[in-house]
Amino acid sequence: MKRSQTVRMQVQRVVLNSRPGKNGAPVPEHFRLEQVTLTPDLKDGEVLVRTLYLSVDPYMRCRMNEDTGAEYLTPWQLSECVDGGGVGVVESSRCSSCIVGDVVTSFNWPWQTCAVITGSGLQKLDPQLVDGHLSYFLGAVGMPGLTAMLGVREKGHVTKGAKQTMVVSGAAGACGSIAGQIGRLEGCVRVVGICGSDEKCKALVEDLGFSAAINYRHEDVPARLKESCPDGIDVYFDNVGGAISDSVIAQMNKGGHVILCGQISQYNKDVPYPPPLSEEIQENLRSKNITRERFMVLNYMDKTDAALWELSQWVKSAQIKVLETVVNGIENMGVAFCSMMTGGNIGKQIIKISE
Ligand SMILES: NC(=O)c1ccc[n+]([C@@H]2O[C@H](COP(=O)([O-])OP(=O)(O)OC[C@H]3O[C@@H](n4cnc5c(N)ncnc54)[C@H](OP(=O)(O)O)[C@@H]3O)[C@@H](O)[C@H]2O)c1
Repeated sequence: MKRSQTVRMQVQRVVLNSRPGKNGAPVPEHFRLEQVTLTPDLKDGEVLVRTLYLSVDPYMRCRMNEDTGAEYLTPWQLSECVDGGGVGVVESSRCSSCIVGDVVTSFNWPWQTCAVITGSGLQKLDPQLVDGHLSYFLGAVGMPGLTAMLGVREKGHVTKGAKQTMVVSGAAGACGSIAGQIGRLEGCVRVVGICGSDEKCKALVEDLGFSAAINYRHEDVPARLKESCPDGIDVYFDNVGGAISDSVIAQMNKGGHVILCGQISQYNKDVPYPPPLSEEIQENLRSKNITRERFMVLNYMDKTDAALWELSQWVKSAQIKVLETVVNGIENMGVAFCSMMTGGNIGKQIIKISE
């Protein structure tokens, strides 16, 4: 008599070890690597996926808190597998929409080397869109690219021929590096980036075509803004909030537009989102009739497919250049996340899990 054999696989996963506390910075020790045994006996509708690339993103800081402060974000649970954006390949399938070899993605990909996932929660990807650079699906041709493109288009009021000046904070990061390039492509005559190192400033100007870049850690931001934006600032893509954003807003022109994308400088503080502005800055916005609307990429899902296609064409034609910082190995997820939160990345922070 033939006995059916149950195949067992040893896989690695990352779980949440502890929480930083609402006013604390995350450290790698908040995460823990575990070995687990996977028995990939698939049920109907399930697929076995092998993880290729994982993403670490600033919003994950909120998921480390027991209360994320946002109704669309669920908290990560202690001792449970952490999840986020990921790309992988289907190894076996009992789901009619996925076949072996498909490249797939999800916003809720487990931080696990291989996993059994419900196939209906996966989106199929076309590797040709990124000329085989599958990690781009987590960056320039993924959620951060969409955020940059749709943020500029929906809230930036960039108009060809209007000779606008755009400033981008967090400019050398995943969203910021794309947002500045889109600002230029959409018609801004001057795009100035603010970021945290000279190396990043150099990359912005020499590789990505920014007009100027300011290192906020070592330079006088208001003085450098005056110098590099002689006609004032019309559009501000705000990734960071806090003192940097106050300096930018103070130099904005009448009728300008702030794209309120993120406020990373405040994410380790127990403040509501968006964090309250000082009375002075609020008055500045009011008196100059500057819009500052919150932008949420999740609210534009109907525009995703067209926008991703457009981004892919811009990347293929090198009109948009892509910067990435790639770290290898699932054991480095926590390190990579904390590094990204403190500026260790140029461009999108990617973790490569397998070939
Ligand atoms: N609204 C949406 O739908 C949406 C979607 C995606 C992302 N976002 C937001 O967009 C922003 C950028 O996200 P991303 O994924 O592109 O991350 P990222 O820019 O690739 O990485 C985060 C960067 O933030 C900078 N940073 C960290 N602490 C800072 C501080 N105190 N002051 C100034 N800069 C600081 C660091 O660069 P430096 O070296 O320059 O400090 C770091 O590299 C975040 O605020 C995020 O929450 C919003």
